[in-house]
Amino acid sequence: MTLAQIYAEQKKSLKMIEKKLELALEAPHPILNQAALDLLKAGGKRIRPLLVLLSAQYGDPDRKEVIDAAVTLELIHMASLVHDDVVDDSDLRRGKPTVKARWDNRVAMYTGDYIFARAIELIAAFDHPEAHQVISKVIRDLSLGEIDQIKDLYNWKQNLRCYLLRIKRKTAILMALSCQLGAFSAGCTDAVAKKLYYFGYFLGMSFQITDDILDFVGTEKQLGKPAGSDLRNGNITLPVFYALRDSELHQSIVSIIESDEPADQEWRSVIDSIRDSGAIQAAESLSDRYLEKAIVKLHELPQLPVTHSLKEIAEYIGTRKY
Ligand code: IPE
Ligand code: IPE
Ligand code: MG
Ligand code: MG
Ligand code: MG
Repeated sequence: MTLAQIYAEQKKSLKMIEKKLELALEAPHPILNQAALDLLKAGGKRIRPLLVLLSAQYGDPDRKEVIDAAVTLELIHMASLVHDDVVDDSDLRRGKPTVKARWDNRVAMYTGDYIFARAIELIAAFDHPEAHQVISKVIRDLSLGEIDQIKDLYNWKQNLRCYLLRIKRKTAILMALSCQLGAFSAGCTDAVAKKLYYFGYFLGMSFQITDDILDFVGTEKQLGKPAGSDLRNGNITLPVFYALRDSELHQSIVSIIESDEPADQEWRSVIDSIRDSGAIQAAESLSDRYLEKAIVKLHELPQLPVTHSLKEIAEYIGTRKY
């Protein structure tokens, strides 16, 4: 089954999710209302809701909680994007001006908080103590990951483990918990939920590594968000770790990071040389290793048609261009 077919098969549920997202984002304030709804209408891949829906297939996918879990997780993701664009000083998201660019950081701060609150309101109806723990954990880890990143900006001496912990916290846990909550909300056993958690975790690690690669190799038009800005912002991502192992590249990276105000041309030349080095392939190969681990987890699950769909998602993550 292709990715398009997987989305098509879940069309009815995804439509319900879209409707509920819209309701959840309505705010009794013109700015909040517009800021949140604009981000929703700008699109996005809805990969986290899709993971919830697919994971729920290992139990009873028709339970009402399944849709609510999917909406909650997409809301948390969206709130984190609004805050992330403040931290990363990004003006473009999903091909549209970010909340912070259209209004300012103050509006973005409270738009993000508002969306987080709406997510929590929705999950409040869940009669499942673990669901509440899951939601708290996801918001807690996201904050830790983003703060870790701020702490480690421009620190080219940090080790690879810092990077891996950071992306685990800021991205992979949300995907792991999307799978786990999908399973819980459909009444799956703890053993199935745990395997799905690890599948989502490995998938999420690969997802963020790919995002970090795309920042070097993608274009703004393809991505709908700025390209080439991670390193300029001081964010040391996986391709940079590998590039630092090459003595020539090492010198130019350290020198640009440590210089006061490098010209745009200097940044461009360092970013181009990383893009054209073996660092990208090395990062791709670590991403693939995470995907292999994700697929091994799938083998441990009951072999249902949905298991093939999840495999397809993993394959898409490894080749995605946006
Ligand atoms: C962007 O996530 C943030 C990361 C964790 C890399 P997505 O690439 O899923 O963003 P949308 O929802 O499709 O816009
Ligand atoms: C992931 O990191 C964002 C969050 C966890 C919110 P990025 O900063 O790389 O995400 P993009 O590239 O802006 O989507
Ligand atoms: Mg960021
Ligand atoms: Mg960002
Ligand atoms: Mg990114």
